[in-house]
Amino acid sequence: MKVLLIGGGGREHALGWKIAQSPLLSKLYVDPGNPGLNHIGAPVTTDMANPRAIVAFAQENHVDLVVVGPEAPLAAGLGDALRAAGIACFGPDRDAARLETSKSFMKEVCAAVDAPTAASGTFAEAGAAKAFLREQTAPYVIKADGLAAGKGVIIAESLADADAAIDEMLAGQFGAASAEIVIEEFMEGEEASFFAITDGETILPMIAAQDHKRAYDGDKGPNTGGMGAYSPARVFTEEIRTKTLERIVEPVVAELARRGSPYVGVLYAGLMIKDGDPRLVEFNARFGDPECQILMRLLKSDLLPVLHAAATGALQGQSFDWSRDAGALVVMAADGYPGAYEKGSVIRGVDEANAAPGVVVFHAGTKKDGDLLRANGGRVLNVTATGADIREAIDRAYTGAAAIDWPEGFYRRDIGWRALEAGK
Ligand code: AMP
Ligand code: GLY
Repeated sequence: MKVLLIGGGGREHALGWKIAQSPLLSKLYVDPGNPGLNHIGAPVTTDMANPRAIVAFAQENHVDLVVVGPEAPLAAGLGDALRAAGIACFGPDRDAARLETSKSFMKEVCAAVDAPTAASGTFAEAGAAKAFLREQTAPYVIKADGLAAGKGVIIAESLADADAAIDEMLAGQFGAASAEIVIEEFMEGEEASFFAITDGETILPMIAAQDHKRAYDGDKGPNTGGMGAYSPARVFTEEIRTKTLERIVEPVVAELARRGSPYVGVLYAGLMIKDGDPRLVEFNARFGDPECQILMRLLKSDLLPVLHAAATGALQGQSFDWSRDAGALVVMAADGYPGAYEKGSVIRGVDEANAAPGVVVFHAGTKKDGDLLRANGGRVLNVTATGADIREAIDRAYTGAAAIDWPEGFYRRDIGWRALEAGK
């Protein structure tokens, strides 16, 4: 099977690493790939914002399956364009991807099937938004309706800050993405990310992971795209898993099929768990980054037949075999991230880290410069490790991180602290 993998971050390096282990694979193309991924697949560069360019490449090269890593190409209609051309695509059409790209759509679908999520209102006008805000209690949660590169959620402690967020967003802070805003109830609890693959009808559940969104130790500092992750997720018990599937994932997938826009791909449910009940924080139309990297390390069976089956309406009868090990991931980021940071510093020691027991390093933001490897982003490397338990996985990931010589980078020293504390 010839596969084209779209994306070039740590998530895509992990997906490519796993796909490349499949005996079914005859050729892997990566678009655009990265220095880690380009060892595994053949790099190609199309205009990723232009679905037609990707369709043309797939046709010319007789690609059997396109696997889409990030959400932006899905929002641009890549899934629609590929399916219209008769090419199998792992990733939803633009309409179904609105579960991620429009928070008001997500809320409306949840309401239609009674899926548990924060109570909310959607507004395009400041007066009505502020009146609704005054019926809520602090802290106030204000979200841009559309994609805002992870920056579209404000949690405000005071009415004044919340009013200011409403004014800024509706004045076009995130362009069209904040022409509408969603104000919602603040949910308490512990977060976990759960993933399920679907062909629009059949659902194949995966496992859950937890990530750390804050930049600094102690879960302090600014929000980031994720500074580390681990699995199993202690809060995600068998009971929570069943409730999540029955109350959230299954009814939402069925509702989209009923509306004539079946969801094909991986559905990422960001959950808030409290008192034995899961509630939905957000959906994403893709794998989580960095959670995906852990999932790929813990999946024992072949991923490729499942991706292909999901993309071709044949998921029934497919299954996964998961390792009983634990997995952990430490993100190495450039000094200054998530604020301003420099690109171009030299990184050494990736081979040494990869030689450590249980460690695999995925590239997230690097570039090759002759024989040198240089930083080329905010989140630069993902050091993953597996181990017999969470303690061993975390220790091994830190042994890997310590082998990397990169003075201009930093990482959190407390990934998985909740899991470790619970295990004491
Ligand atoms: P989102 O982009 O919707 O995932 O929001 C980013 C983060 O904000 C989430 O991972 C939560 O930590 C937090 N968050 C979002 N919505 C809520 C909510 N209604 N209650 C509490 N925390 C929230
Ligand atoms: N790890 C959070 C995300 O991928 O959105």
